[in-house]
Amino acid sequence: MAKKVWGNQGAKSEDINAPASLGKESHPATLREARRLLLQVSHRQGAALRIREGNSGRDPQRDPEIPVEKAGQAASWPVNMWLYLAALLGLYYLRRWYRERQTVDKLTEKYVFITGCDSGFGKALARQLDTLGMHVLATCLTQEGAEELERLSTNRLKTILLDITSTEKVATATEWVKRCVGDKGEPRGRVVNVTSVAGRMSYHGGGYSPSKFALEAFSDSLRRELRPFGVRVSIIEPGSFLTGVSSISSFLAIWKAVPAEIKELYGQEYWNNFHKTFVGGGWRKTNLSLVTDCMEHALTSRYPRSRYSAGWDAKLFFIPLSYMPAAVGDFVMTYRWPKPAKAID
Ligand SMILES: NC(=O)c1ccc[n+]([C@@H]2O[C@H](COP(=O)([O-])OP(=O)(O)OC[C@H]3O[C@@H](n4cnc5c(N)ncnc54)[C@H](OP(=O)(O)O)[C@@H]3O)[C@@H](O)[C@H]2O)c1
Repeated sequence: MAKKVWGNQGAKSEDINAPASLGKESHPATLREARRLLLQVSHRQGAALRIREGNSGRDPQRDPEIPVEKAGQAASWPVNMWLYLAALLGLYYLRRWYRERQTVDKLTEKYVFITGCDSGFGKALARQLDTLGMHVLATCLTQEGAEELERLSTNRLKTILLDITSTEKVATATEWVKRCVGDKGEPRGRVVNVTSVAGRMSYHGGGYSPSKFALEAFSDSLRRELRPFGVRVSIIEPGSFLTGVSSISSFLAIWKAVPAEIKELYGQEYWNNFHKTFVGGGWRKTNLSLVTDCMEHALTSRYPRSRYSAGWDAKLFFIPLSYMPAAVGDFVMTYRWPKPAKAID
């Protein structure tokens, strides 16, 4: 039986680099091969070291000291980095998609209170959630609005008249909600506030943008404060959609109410151009479900988002622009604006 020799004791001088575990019985060809491999490894380590030390400027094609394969690896690291980043991003979105498609249990036992249901997003959401089997408590500004909504919905949906600017009526509506829900109310709940892209990027005067910025700030602090109590707060930021608030008649009503000296400052031509650029500019989308689907998700998903942007203009234009320097935002927003009659050049 062949005796095992440990270490290099049994190796001849030419086999000095042979692995320690090789025995006397090892074939000389095997030893030669092992030695060749070891030399190759140390040669590559040396080349890699030289590349790290800044000698990588040498052409690996001509310089035999730098293996072409190693130099190629060093040059391709940015490509690998982007691949890793893309894979991480893909995993992140996959996980988000999986979590977000899970809905809360027993949806048909849930109550939802919605304001402003005469028209627009409020009305569309009330009908959408009613179809899902949820108990919708809808407030309308007008009796006609309430009757119309009731006519289009199931008996589950209930309405009440509410002008949200009246503290007294808000208190009455609160008592009504308590009576409707009874002892079925839950400590865990959701608050979904509709702001706007105008709450991220102020693009015209008046009180609209300031009110939306305020609602963004209020919702952000509310989200942090209510989380320990099991209440999640989401913000919906729609782009431009064709509803009552953005209709031509509402803009016309504002222009008619403008004092005479202001009309003179801007001129009729300004209004005509403004009308063409903004109101008739094709920005307003008619598919309200882009917004109501976000609202539904915020109310029914087990993992609602803090913010939802709805519409291509919100996602690709207004919100990215809100992160740009002020000079860029000012230029992009105003280069198509009409000029007031008394503007100074
Ligand atoms: N449309 C868009 O492009 C857009 C974009 C971003 C954000 N938003 C926001 O989305 C929300 C809903 O607006 P919308 O687009 O759906 O417009 P809308 O069709 O005009 O809806 C507004 C609703 O609120 C009601 N309302 C008005 N004043 C009220 C008051 N004092 N008390 C209670 N209810 C009142 C309206 O009733 P009446 O119909 O009887 O007046 C209507 O039902 C608003 O906060 C708006 O700022 C809209």
